[in-house]
Amino acid sequence: MKSLTLPLTTDRLNLRAHRETDAEALLPIYSREDVSQFLLGEPWTAEEARTQIAKRSSKTGLDTESRALSLIVETKDGLDDIEGSVVIGDVGIWLTDDSAEKAEIGWVLNPAAGGHGFASEAATAMLNVAFDHYNLHRVIAQMDARNTASAKLASRIGMRQEAHLRQDWWSKGEWSDTLIFGMLSTDRQVA
Ligand SMILES: CC(C)(COP(=O)(O)OP(=O)(O)OC[C@H]1O[C@@H](n2cnc3c(N)ncnc32)[C@H](O)[C@@H]1OP(=O)(O)O)[C@@H](O)C(=O)NCCC(=O)NCCS
Repeated sequence: MKSLTLPLTTDRLNLRAHRETDAEALLPIYSREDVSQFLLGEPWTAEEARTQIAKRSSKTGLDTESRALSLIVETKDGLDDIEGSVVIGDVGIWLTDDSAEKAEIGWVLNPAAGGHGFASEAATAMLNVAFDHYNLHRVIAQMDARNTASAKLASRIGMRQEAHLRQDWWSKGEWSDTLIFGMLSTDRQVA
């Protein structure tokens, strides 16, 4: 794999590697109950934010030891007024097996920046990197079946729902259903 040039840019966004100061930028987003509701962990504390950012800063490419790419999503200059900060969330992909041909994608966006298609734009840029740069065969997204915003996003960017697993995940005191969406490299060629 050749190394990836960062940041990635889209029409309205920059997608860049994490920096230490992002703990402060992401804390107001990840400390929200409505954001963490369907994520694996509890709402972030300031300490958890620092721990998470430290973990993510090494995730700079699928070809690195981390086997993951975790990027901060920020609006380009001039769009800052949307929610008072240029950092609006993050998007990541990580390899899911030894073949280095399959990955999972995940996303988080500040609700204050929702409804503009920013998450779609960031996730599409990540899928482009996954298939066009890393030549992956398959990318999946998994979410709590109650997370309709996330499922809509997966559909919007062209992923197909492949499964609805009943009560397969013990999450925050209850069994929850999981949706699995997938995209194959061949799906893109016919699109
Ligand atoms: C999942 C999540 C990222 C989706 O965010 P989102 O704001 O709904 O997604 P987008 O930024 O792509 O915006 C889509 C909306 O903008 C609208 N939109 C406006 N302009 C648009 C454009 N240029 N392109 C695409 N959509 C656009 C769409 O119609 C859609 O509106 P709708 O919600 O009324 O259907 C967000 O809800 C989130 O971070 N949730 C908490 C964390 C989480 O659960 N992450 C997933 C774990 S599996």
